Amino acid sequence: MDGTTLIIGAGGKTGTRVAARLAKQGPLRPVSRRTSPPFDWKDRRSWAPALQGATRAYVTFQPDLAIAGADADIAELARLGREAGLEQMVLLSGRGEPGAQRAEQALIESGLDWNVVRASWFAQNFSEGVFVDGIRAGLLALPAGPVPEPFIDADDIADVATAALTDPSLRNRIFEVTGPRALTFAEAVDIIAAATGRPVAYRQISPADFADGLTPYLPPDVIALLVSLFTEVLDGRNIATADGVQQALGHAPRDFADYAALVAATGVWETVP
Ligand SMILES: NC(=O)c1ccc[n+]([C@@H]2O[C@H](COP(=O)([O-])OP(=O)(O)OC[C@H]3O[C@@H](n4cnc5c(N)ncnc54)[C@H](OP(=O)(O)O)[C@@H]3O)[C@@H](O)[C@H]2O)c1
Repeated sequence: MDGTTLIIGAGGKTGTRVAARLAKQGPLRPVSRRTSPPFDWKDRRSWAPALQGATRAYVTFQPDLAIAGADADIAELARLGREAGLEQMVLLSGRGEPGAQRAEQALIESGLDWNVVRASWFAQNFSEGVFVDGIRAGLLALPAGPVPEPFIDADDIADVATAALTDPSLRNRIFEVTGPRALTFAEAVDIIAAATGRPVAYRQISPADFADGLTPYLPPDVIALLVSLFTEVLDGRNIATADGVQQALGHAPRDFADYAALVAATGVWETVP
């Protein structure tokens, strides 16, 4: 592949995987707040140096495209990218979030070649994200009721993003990606418990109790964002599966049970003494 590929959020759940897939396909520039050059979504001065000389970019926004102003940030990143010679941007987005859809539109209208990978909630939230401590402790308590969600494997997301970055015939398309079936959080936890061979319970708690539990660990704006994702997005709007993995890759997405079996074998969910 000609030219440098910029990966924004390179140490994250999908950025790591995209970088691994592209490692042998030409120069990579993985960036986040801790890289050189650094890239910080909260400091626009850091954006142009990161974009300099890049041909294409995989973009994961922080903390979430649902926040106010995310669309303006994506529009500005794309504008600076065009100035710097960028040709294509692949944006990771979320389903059912009006703010995320505004950000997608900003990219689509930017004049760059574009792709949107519009994902359901990640399976890896249970193993690399905010739910992993609960799974290890044997009790996951969240403000989510019996609304099913078609959790997607981050490996499938990375495969779709990589295909979009490397296959010109896939450009300028939205890939809406989900797992093959919707599961409630209680069902997902049951599958993880079966895979690990030890009991793990799921309990629905109130948004207020959830926020109180996070107060010692996270800033108020991040807690408010998490609460809003649980209370607004998990209302049934995203239950239907979508075929973006099949469209981009020609095969079905990985089932949650297969994800759980693979992760259980790594020992990530073993109880912390
Ligand atoms: N999790 C889900 O279920 C889900 C579902 C749909 C869509 N999404 C979207 O996925 C995106 C996150 O992607 P991901 O899960 O692959 O990444 P991630 O695992 O959340 O983290 C990516 C990296 O972002 C960096 N980061 C944090 N704050 C930053 C900032 N202010 N500026 C620059 N980098 C920053 C961190 O590295 P440093 O500490 O080194 O900066 C971190 O390693 C979000 O936009 C989210 O809305 C998530």
